[in-house]
Amino acid sequence: MYTQVYYDEMFMRQALSLATKGWGKTGINPLVGAIITKKNRIVGRGFHQKLGEAHAEVCALLEAGKRAENATLYVNLEPCCTTGLTPPCVHAIARARVRRVVMSTTDPNPDVNGKGIECLKQHNIDITIGVLAEAAQELNKWYSKFITSRIPYIILKIAASRNQRISGFKEKYITSEQSRRFVHSLRSRVSAVLIGIHTVLTDNCYLTDRFIGRHSPARIVIDPHLHIPLDSHFMEPSSRRIVITNSTNDVGKIEKLIARGVEIIILEGNHYAIDDIIEKLRMLRINSIMVEGGARVFADFHENKQYDEIYLFIAPHKVSDGIILDDRIWKEAMAQEHKPITIGDDRLYHVYRNN
Ligand SMILES: NC(=O)c1ccc[n+]([C@@H]2O[C@H](COP(=O)([O-])OP(=O)(O)OC[C@H]3O[C@@H](n4cnc5c(N)ncnc54)[C@H](OP(=O)(O)O)[C@@H]3O)[C@@H](O)[C@H]2O)c1
Repeated sequence: MYTQVYYDEMFMRQALSLATKGWGKTGINPLVGAIITKKNRIVGRGFHQKLGEAHAEVCALLEAGKRAENATLYVNLEPCCTTGLTPPCVHAIARARVRRVVMSTTDPNPDVNGKGIECLKQHNIDITIGVLAEAAQELNKWYSKFITSRIPYIILKIAASRNQRISGFKEKYITSEQSRRFVHSLRSRVSAVLIGIHTVLTDNCYLTDRFIGRHSPARIVIDPHLHIPLDSHFMEPSSRRIVITNSTNDVGKIEKLIARGVEIIILEGNHYAIDDIIEKLRMLRINSIMVEGGARVFADFHENKQYDEIYLFIAPHKVSDGIILDDRIWKEAMAQEHKPITIGDDRLYHVYRNN
């Protein structure tokens, strides 16, 4: 005989798993999954599929229909009580006469935080909170940061040789296929990837999710002198493209870029403050960014403490000549307390910023 705690965790695990189906498609909205059960049997499932479309709870209620009466709803985030692009979920839950709502965490959005729960209580709905809270927080860490600070969640992703070089590789890639697959999975979860113009010019990178096929993020290049080649892979229209540049550059080229659907951010001077770049991207509703190089861009974001996590992949080979990764990043990622994960032939150091 299983306990109710056992069932609560089991159904919440399923709600969390459903939530991940929305990766890359929910825009500034969180990843949310919902399960409705009656006598511990599932009668409805839903997840938030796309920004502007129905929330997870409403999708699950639709599937459950009349069976939602006196049922239990599992959802990884507090149901909303505000009218945004869709009406408040708490009203739909109350209308369906759900008896109990089990959730992982409250919604960090100040407009909802605790108010959704209050509203459900007013309708005499039983509340259980904190089920698999840690996993739920991890899933929506980028949402929590953006909704409370309006600063995108930032990941530095670096591939290096065993002797700290990030270029001069014999082959196009230094890391194993398994590592690259993992990187594509990370890409498919962020709003945007960002690079400096020298990386476009040297590597002609795609920056898309080609291994997983889930979602290709917006691609951003910092290019103060507008060197971007019009025939580079960056220009391919597989996802949103953003060029950060100066107003003093060739107007004809800027017009050509706009005609091809590229968004232009204008900043003045030759060196842009990282905070100014982030502010502009925030206004374009970019809520999470994976910084993919090169050396100067990594150093700038690190120096300005504009990052939340570092993924440093280290290949087993040495490279005799190439750009050396900023020593502070290398040392921080490889600090004694961090144990690497083995991935393919590589070691991966994954660290959270703690200063
Ligand atoms: N192993 C890896 O993980 C990895 C990843 C990416 C790249 N790479 C390698 O890194 C090398 C490129 O690195 P890099 O340091 O030379 O170049 P980069 O970081 O790709 O680009 C630097 C250039 O971008 C512009 N830029 C960057 N930040 C700026 C800011 N805050 N304000 C204004 N302009 C800014 C400037 O362009 P202007 O020069 O026009 O002023 C700057 O010179 C390549 O060899 C590439 O293969 C390695």
